[in-house]
Amino acid sequence: MNAELSRRTIGQAPSAVVIAMTMLIGILAPVVCVAQGASGAVVAPTPPMGWNSWNHFAAKIDDATVRAQADAMVSNGMRAAGYRYINIDDTWEGGRDAEGVIHPNAKFPDMKALADYVHSKGLKLGLYSSPGPKTCAGYAGSEGHEIKDAQTYAAWGVDYLKYDLCSLGDKMLATGSVEKAQAIELEAYQKMHAALMATGRPIVYSLCQYGFSQVWRWGGSVGGNLWRTTGDIEDKFPRMTEIGFGQAGLSKYAKPGQWNDPDMLEVGNGGMTSTEYRTHMSLWALLAAPLLAGNDLTSMSPGALAILTNPDVIAIDQDPLGRQGDRVRAEGPLEIWSKPLSQGRTAVGLFNRSDLPAYMEVDLADVGITGEAQAWDVWAGRDLGPLKRYRVLVPDHGVVLLRLTPGGRAVGR
Ligand code: GLA
Repeated sequence: MNAELSRRTIGQAPSAVVIAMTMLIGILAPVVCVAQGASGAVVAPTPPMGWNSWNHFAAKIDDATVRAQADAMVSNGMRAAGYRYINIDDTWEGGRDAEGVIHPNAKFPDMKALADYVHSKGLKLGLYSSPGPKTCAGYAGSEGHEIKDAQTYAAWGVDYLKYDLCSLGDKMLATGSVEKAQAIELEAYQKMHAALMATGRPIVYSLCQYGFSQVWRWGGSVGGNLWRTTGDIEDKFPRMTEIGFGQAGLSKYAKPGQWNDPDMLEVGNGGMTSTEYRTHMSLWALLAAPLLAGNDLTSMSPGALAILTNPDVIAIDQDPLGRQGDRVRAEGPLEIWSKPLSQGRTAVGLFNRSDLPAYMEVDLADVGITGEAQAWDVWAGRDLGPLKRYRVLVPDHGVVLLRLTPGGRAVGR
């Protein structure tokens, strides 16, 4: 936790205590309660899909930009493809009034009107805060104001909250104790969960504490519908793959209403090739990751749009079985991942992380399929017919993504 947590908070080197904390917190997790909306329905039965302001706009986000993103999501077909949430990340926060009620800053003159606008488009609105006194960008956090903030969000019509550890890390570090730091973190996340539940409004609860302390083991117990499993993504192939392939072994901690979150998408931001963005999107779909586009939806290329809206890839991510995929095997830079799907189907990704094209081969028995399966090449949009093993040339930094249907049934869209 520590290098990153320290960087985000007090800029000091990690202490031995905090390193120990990283190792122990997962073991000390509390009894699990179910992440549900107040109505009893599971919130986020499939990984949330939408858009978030941070990756492209960071602090340059305002009311007009958010409205334009919502408009674009409708007009470019992303809403029809399943994208719903329009999430405003850090830097919307203003001051608190005499009663302690949070107000947006001048960039967001009327948050309720903005939420109404987003809802009028058939979309949902997300906001961002921190359990600490300050957000990561130094704006007002929710510490000590959880109940009021949750009520304010609900009154505005907010449907999603990203709750980012940020300055609460200072307090955790200051305890010098694994147990005390853990208690502070869990209590803070639980407190906001209870406050959100008390509003009676279903609000997706997204934990963001960079994956420290094996959060996948306890994120659901504090009410999280998703939890970041890593530090921040960047629009670069090495960072995207470090994060994405680093998810190996986490599949058993995800289920409907409780998702691992390897951070938002970078597709369309320009730092990777189309081949690399297809790798990004394929891996996130196999991981049952939230699909939160992080680009400017008003000025995207047809190629980026095609990657973000490929119906077969989205169907893999959103499959109702709700199982996360995992690594089947790695041979140096060549990795095979699979994800169980409903109706006995399986998605398989053949990933070539190397800098040269490479032949890869998968035996269907390796992904638990006995006998033949009908194979559909998702990105090529091509039926490969019945097969038991498949050998294919995978481009450098690229992927071949297959959907396999056991037996002799013909496949296709
Ligand atoms: C942290 C989070 C990012 C973003 C910024 C905003 O770095 O991990 O996703 O929310 O804070 O300040």
